[in-house]
Amino acid sequence: MRRKLVVGNWKMHGSHAANAELLAGILAAKPYACDLAVCVPAPYLSEAAVTLAGSSVRWGAQDCSAHEQGAYTGEVAASMLSEFGCRYVIVGHSERRSYHHETDLLVADKAKAALAKGVTPIVCVGETLAQREAGETETVVKRQLSAVIHALGHCAGEMVVAYEPLWAIGTGRTASPEQAQAVHQVLRAQLRAATAHADAMLILYGGSVKPDNAAQLFAQPDIDGGLIGGASLKAADFVAICRAAG
Ligand code: 13P
Repeated sequence: MRRKLVVGNWKMHGSHAANAELLAGILAAKPYACDLAVCVPAPYLSEAAVTLAGSSVRWGAQDCSAHEQGAYTGEVAASMLSEFGCRYVIVGHSERRSYHHETDLLVADKAKAALAKGVTPIVCVGETLAQREAGETETVVKRQLSAVIHALGHCAGEMVVAYEPLWAIGTGRTASPEQAQAVHQVLRAQLRAATAHADAMLILYGGSVKPDNAAQLFAQPDIDGGLIGGASLKAADFVAICRAAG
């Protein structure tokens, strides 16, 4: 039985005051029956680490460099995230693939760089609406995941995968539990072919997860939790989603 994981992706939101209120709200609702984490903007890692230290709530970042160190202005190395106690880093989020032209290969290198420093990559895959309508969903997500499986080799079993259909992100239009499960099943089969650990691996769903649809999504056999955007910015909503996970 896989223990569910709910991760808040704050994206580019937050301030000292807003973060303090949000984290206090999340901590006040302990204990949780699922694992949970918040992925915060890089400048706030230090305060998240201080606020959450000693609690069961984990923290992480939203991206990292594929390079170890060097002249890469603006980039953050996985070793730095590790120094801040990051448990997770999101890599390959569709917003980075779209706005920053990140390729499957770059995403795979980032996942590898993270794991090398002991930070678990949450690898995002997902199709656009046009790709879904053209019947290409499976091909797209398998191609995206395959690059990472290849780069990680025998460590592939250590990543977390997140299926985030682009048409469901921030749109209020979530994938139905059946649509999401169908893709998760495909991803699980692909992982099984690559690693003996596939049945212990977590595959999260992301895309307009809200308190009122989380339980049905999380009830699917291959949906092991969620990657939550907008609803992770309100403590009450995020806590309700965590409750729906177990
Ligand atoms: P929303 O929950 O706002 O749709 O965002 C999902 C997401 O992109 C999480 O990474």
